[in-house]
Amino acid sequence: MWLIALVLGLILIGCSQEKKTQEMKLVKPGVLTVGMDATYPPFEFINETTKKFEGFDVDLMKAIAERMGLKVEFKNVAWEGIIPGLIAHKYDCICSAMTITPKRAKQVNFSIPYFVASQVIVVRANDNRIHGVKDLEGKVVGVQLGTTGEFFAEKLLKEGIHFKLRRYKTTPDALMDLKEGRLDAVIIDNGIAMWMAKKCPEDYKVINERLTHELYGIAVAKDNPGLLKAINKALKEVMEDGTYEKIYEKWFGTKPNMTLLMK
Ligand code: ARG
Repeated sequence: MWLIALVLGLILIGCSQEKKTQEMKLVKPGVLTVGMDATYPPFEFINETTKKFEGFDVDLMKAIAERMGLKVEFKNVAWEGIIPGLIAHKYDCICSAMTITPKRAKQVNFSIPYFVASQVIVVRANDNRIHGVKDLEGKVVGVQLGTTGEFFAEKLLKEGIHFKLRRYKTTPDALMDLKEGRLDAVIIDNGIAMWMAKKCPEDYKVINERLTHELYGIAVAKDNPGLLKAINKALKEVMEDGTYEKIYEKWFGTKPNMTLLMK
């Protein structure tokens, strides 16, 4: 009899232990604190007049937090330290146009993908020398440090296309140097590239070639599986009930191809 009781007791303890590890931890109770490098329109940027966070990722996280019954707060962090800051629990998650890569997935957990992206080349609007990666030979190319743009540029260098690679703390810094003639091209994500070319058509032109296939995910610390689960559930709901589509249309002016995301 006591043996059965003991076994049952152990099972119960085991179950509650299981539940505990599944509970989500939050930096601030009742609030989902989101880290982002808010220099990246239309995904995340600070509105110059209102000083508020804006963008696709901002609206998406607002919708996700609402589904989770939480308030949301955004923290502006430099891209360089964004993953270490998450691991150190300075914020609960990262939503910052971050590409899911195997290397990053060793350090943090990623949500289900929420956006399809690719690297592209941006040049000055009046430049007719560069039409593809081969034309980068002998040029000066800018990327944002620690991004998939940098990783792709390094791959091209290894493959034997020779150019000078300049690494910048932010993508707008690289685009500024391109405009000023200190760079011949930048390699960045298509979303920000198209946004900038649309905003400043006299300055920038995007080369119409998708160089990579990437998916963005929301990053959560490895020791917070409960939060990851809750974010995934909310993200799925937002994708299924039309909220995602609305946010996408607001920022990109077209309907998203949901079949690319939801398989
Ligand atoms: N998608 C690229 C990457 O993950 C660039 C993201 C940069 N995001 C930002 N908010 N600065 O490496």
